[in-house]
Amino acid sequence: MLSRILSAATIGIDAKPIEIEVDITRGLPNVVIVGLPDTAIRESRDRVKSAIKNSQFEYPPEKITINLAPCDIKKEGPSFDLPIAIGILAASGQINHDAVKNFVFLGELALNGKLRPIKGALPIAMSLKNSGKKLIVPEENACEAGIVEGVDTYPLKNLSSVSNFLNNTNCISPVRQDKEMLTEEIQDYELDFSDVKGQFLAKRAMEIASAGNHNIIMIGPPGSGKTMLAKRIPTIMPDMTIEESLETTKIHSVSGLIPAKGSIIRTRPFRTPHHTASDVSLVGGGTVPKPGEVSIAHNGVLFMDELPEFHRNVLESLRQPLEEGYVVVSRINSIVKFPSKFMLVCAMNPCPCGFLTDAKKVCHCTPNQIQKYLSKVSGPLLDRIDIHIEVPSVKYKDLSDETSGEKSEIIRKRVRRARDIQLKRFKDDRIFSNSQMSYRLVKKYCRLDDPSRDLLKTAITELGFSGRCYDKILRVSRTIADLEGKENIESDHVSEAIQYRSLDRNMWM
Ligand SMILES: Nc1ncnc2c1ncn2[C@@H]1O[C@H](COP(=O)(O)OP(=O)(O)OP(=O)(O)O)[C@@H](O)[C@H]1O
Ligand SMILES: [Mg+2]
Repeated sequence: MLSRILSAATIGIDAKPIEIEVDITRGLPNVVIVGLPDTAIRESRDRVKSAIKNSQFEYPPEKITINLAPCDIKKEGPSFDLPIAIGILAASGQINHDAVKNFVFLGELALNGKLRPIKGALPIAMSLKNSGKKLIVPEENACEAGIVEGVDTYPLKNLSSVSNFLNNTNCISPVRQDKEMLTEEIQDYELDFSDVKGQFLAKRAMEIASAGNHNIIMIGPPGSGKTMLAKRIPTIMPDMTIEESLETTKIHSVSGLIPAKGSIIRTRPFRTPHHTASDVSLVGGGTVPKPGEVSIAHNGVLFMDELPEFHRNVLESLRQPLEEGYVVVSRINSIVKFPSKFMLVCAMNPCPCGFLTDAKKVCHCTPNQIQKYLSKVSGPLLDRIDIHIEVPSVKYKDLSDETSGEKSEIIRKRVRRARDIQLKRFKDDRIFSNSQMSYRLVKKYCRLDDPSRDLLKTAITELGFSGRCYDKILRVSRTIADLEGKENIESDHVSEAIQYRSLDRNMWM
């Protein structure tokens, strides 16, 4: 007998329907799986066999042919275990074939028939929205898939409970997600900016960077608090909108990063790839393309600590995602686009020993060593970073200060206000922050009065700034003005923005 079961696969961060056909015919007992399966799927024949037997069903001792259609999509992962098992049970008459027609099945099977969680439940649920199809997923994926309205999602424990449910579909009700949870403000960050003592200039720069979504680089001696500051950036960034949350959750879902029983991601991601990371792990790739760190950090922060330690080709591979806001991974079978709009935060020491700019400790590096170390960070990458700051060693007076600094919550309010101004300004320009302004938009929105123009002219001509930082100073000035709620950019704003170009002042290079 023949049975047809619906399932789905993810391609990039989108889902495609997959139909699983199972044909059982007389012949020597044998199982053949066709339709571009990967090793995990080919191995599923053994898992499915044990799961069926251990769930008190009969495994048909005949010739079983399983086809995963359409055949031109490469399929991977163990999520087809459940639909294959259901297909075998339906084709052998142990489950009513009509009962399975309206359902889409997903799930990995353990040998005892238990359902294990799978990757990509959210994008698959989203693709079924308003299709009239119902979704059966392992219990651990229920909160994630259940967010999607317009599709009934049923969480189930094991193969026997799936069969019982198909015989009596009223025995379990679909998952309902608490919608308020999606919009309420997040308060429970583990870290807080008030933990960082002193470093007022650096904190101010973080606030400006978060408000305008500017990329930022911190340079300073070891132990000055660079990593500490960077880790607290997500706590002052505005909360994600529901659309941003869904997009980020989709990427985390296909990467298998959502914890068991985890739901939609509401806090902005903060990713810290190690400096030994390869370019594929950073930008994405693989035979079946998977998102890299730049996409997992989508709508959040990508923190590159010890920047000069990264391989040069890895740093260069960041240029496309930084420029375009997405990564395209091309393979023979597929071309996949992963979104990658992140705020880049970098930290580095000024020299190999780290103490070149330290007032108290002596640097023992030779000029040659320093030059070699700094030259690893290429011009084109620095070109995409709007704010450069020096983070000096923290003073004992600041460290021993018992009074706590400004809380992240208060800074976040100011950041959100500045972001709202930008969203209003750019509503027809299809961008959302000052950092994304093109040359044309900078001309349109960053008009300067005479004193500001004179100041900028002096900076460019006398401080040795290169022409390329002209636009960057204007963009940062625009954000500083927005933080103050000012319509026009004033000379104070420009002079503060000029401070944030320390690398252009040829400090060490
Ligand atoms: N401003 C500060 N306020 C409070 N604690 C601080 C501050 N700066 C540093 N510390 C303490 O020093 C530790 C080290 O700081 P952190 O790791 O951020 O330094 P770093 O600048 O990243 O150093 P490295 O260049 O070696 O990576 C922190 O965990 C914290 O305990
Ligand atoms: Mg550090």
